[in-house]
Amino acid sequence: MATTTAPVQLHRSVQEFLSRPRKLLIGGQWVEAQSGKTFETYNPATGEVLAQVVEGDRAEIDQAVTAARKAFESGPWPDMSPAERGRLLWKLSDLIEQHHEELAELETLDNGKPLFFSRIVDVPTAVDVFRYMAGWATKVEGTTVPLSAPHAKYFAYTLREPVGVVGQIIPWNFPLIMAAWKLAPALAVGCTCILKPAEQTPLTALRLGELIQEAGFPDGVVNIVAGFGETAGAALASHPDVDKIAFTGSTEVGRLIANAATGNLKKVSLELGGKSPNVVFADADLNAAIPGSASAVFFNQGQICTAGSRLFVHKSIFDKVLEGVADQTKKFTVGPGMNESTNLGPLVSKEQLGRVCGYLDSGAKEGAKTIVGGHRIGNTGYFVEPTILVDVKPHMKVVREEIFGPVVTAIPFNDEDDVVRFANDTIYGLASAVWTRDIGKAHRIAAKLRAGTVWINCYNVFDPALPFGGYKQSGWGRENGHSALELYTESKSVCAQL
Ligand code: NAI
Ligand code: MG
Repeated sequence: MATTTAPVQLHRSVQEFLSRPRKLLIGGQWVEAQSGKTFETYNPATGEVLAQVVEGDRAEIDQAVTAARKAFESGPWPDMSPAERGRLLWKLSDLIEQHHEELAELETLDNGKPLFFSRIVDVPTAVDVFRYMAGWATKVEGTTVPLSAPHAKYFAYTLREPVGVVGQIIPWNFPLIMAAWKLAPALAVGCTCILKPAEQTPLTALRLGELIQEAGFPDGVVNIVAGFGETAGAALASHPDVDKIAFTGSTEVGRLIANAATGNLKKVSLELGGKSPNVVFADADLNAAIPGSASAVFFNQGQICTAGSRLFVHKSIFDKVLEGVADQTKKFTVGPGMNESTNLGPLVSKEQLGRVCGYLDSGAKEGAKTIVGGHRIGNTGYFVEPTILVDVKPHMKVVREEIFGPVVTAIPFNDEDDVVRFANDTIYGLASAVWTRDIGKAHRIAAKLRAGTVWINCYNVFDPALPFGGYKQSGWGRENGHSALELYTESKSVCAQL
């Protein structure tokens, strides 16, 4: 683990933010929990306590749902024009931008990711998402519908209305971006929200709550309840007065959410795990495909649902590509996210470290060969070497299960049919990529891959305008773009006899 430059001096407001227990935002007030409990959030680069956070549970979820219901049904929010909602969202995006450095530091301290990425990816993406959705606020339209019913004339139209009070449960890998993906479309269409950040990384969501108040959103429109999944999360998912639940996280918990939602049949959208295939053909531009394949899996320490964790390379170039990806991987600097030279930070938590190391052991036991990496680094913090496994078989756990760490399995293939079959041989269907100079082949493969996203000669390209979500057990629904508005609206048909 090379650490060449000194850590960044913390922004003053970050020091101040971390110095006091962070409260919950409910009905426009920052409150303690009824139980009086708090929990700790850790710096994954050191394993030390970073901050104390008030621990919300069922009682706080109940309060937040009551506040959100009130804000949805009466007061300024339902009376606000779409343009006013759009202006508030835009104002919030400006505030996030103004607090760019502070939010980037908080994200890196809490999650571990390199500050470089928090600065150029996480914070600017959150800004872009709120801005993009601000524009949609004034464009949520219905249609007029010509009817053919006999004996009378009718005028019929559809309205798109906010679904109501929404619960939003998010993971720890992109805490601020996930908060933005959830809140922005819901607010654009006029819903009210209860956001539950992940227990590992609640800080940027809580800071965002302060900016939401500063922007001038009415009390109760956004409530932020930090707490654990099994308690606060489960209470939100099963709550009888929540109209919709949106979740990003593991497929296992996605199933629990879907079950919990059956009580009042609330609407559900799920963005879950992946085991995404990244396919390199012999005619690919290897100057792009090699670094592209390395960053496809190692970006964010592999803790991204779209990680290109199964690398398929045509057998004629397998050795060459693997050598290239291995060289690239060896050049990464693994270290604390706050060091400016770091390319890969620590994993988010001790649990995640244990999980990823478990997969490294299982790969070795099942006979996979490690060509780079394979181990934890040091005893302080949750660092793991970026790892490339070869000689893997389709039944191995490292090939079948989501590792959510910096581990790629590389597999040679013979031809197009072969690789499509391998690529689709998974319970997941979130993302995929193909690298080739043959545009016919690229689009043929894109049509055959059973995944919500196909990247051609690129990887991990996201945009607030581009729908995102999964086939198969990778989820239900599409976030971003116009699709996100559908997740947060109901369609009403109105029919008048003339
Ligand atoms: P998780 O799915 O347990 O946590 C995600 C969110 O769900 C957190 O806010 C958590 O508090 C909440 N949650 C947990 N149990 C809940 C329940 N019973 N009811 C309601 N909410 C609940 O993910 P975890 O345990 O942190 O990571 C486990 C694995 O999940 C990872 O190794 C990775 O494979 C996958 N994962 C996938 C993510 C994605 O973006 N698709 C993000 C995070 C994890
Ligand atoms: Mg869990």
